[in-house]
Amino acid sequence: MPDRVQFRLMQVGDLDSVVALERQAFSHPWTRALYLDALTSYECWMMYWHDQHVGHGVISQIVDEAHLLNIAIAVEQQGKGLGHQLLEHLMRRASQRGCVECFLELRASNLSAYALYERYGFNEIGRRRDYYPTHDGHEDALVMACTLFTDD
Ligand SMILES: CC(C)(COP(=O)(O)OP(=O)(O)OC[C@H]1O[C@@H](n2cnc3c(N)ncnc32)[C@H](O)[C@@H]1OP(=O)(O)O)[C@@H](O)C(=O)NCCC(=O)NCCS
Repeated sequence: MPDRVQFRLMQVGDLDSVVALERQAFSHPWTRALYLDALTSYECWMMYWHDQHVGHGVISQIVDEAHLLNIAIAVEQQGKGLGHQLLEHLMRRASQRGCVECFLELRASNLSAYALYERYGFNEIGRRRDYYPTHDGHEDALVMACTLFTDD
């Protein structure tokens, strides 16, 4: 598990780096405009490893429900345990803010994200037909949920 991982809240000045990482990591990345909106509406986190931006995540809260809206690790840094650490940080934050459950959606074809979430403790609870655009049509979204526990 990588050590010296650090987290801080995302700022407007981070968006060049965030958008560049997104474009590498996703077939349909979030845009700068979406992130500008997210900065005012949600909690957006930057993750650093050895002072390098290696990932980020966005989480929203509605009463005591958290929604994981986005999570990404730089392509060259994937598979080292960083995604798991980022997910743990976001879930801890949600729990600290009083959330008791977290929901997320992902592309049915995203096997690495599915494995990450399942390993963390998320369960598949539903499917939205043709929810995401693809280059030649649409694909289903899987809906997953996880109960959050406090540290104590
Ligand atoms: C999904 C993502 C965040 C995972 O981050 P990561 O740093 O690569 O994941 P980790 O190294 O922490 O792996 C954690 C677990 O995820 C699973 N996993 C990660 N990569 C995997 C792969 N290529 N194939 C299968 N399982 C994988 C494994 O269960 C792994 O646990 P293990 O190492 O004990 O087997 C990362 O691949 C990513 O940014 N992908 C592109 C963006 C994306 O799809 N985001 C999710 C949107 S819903």
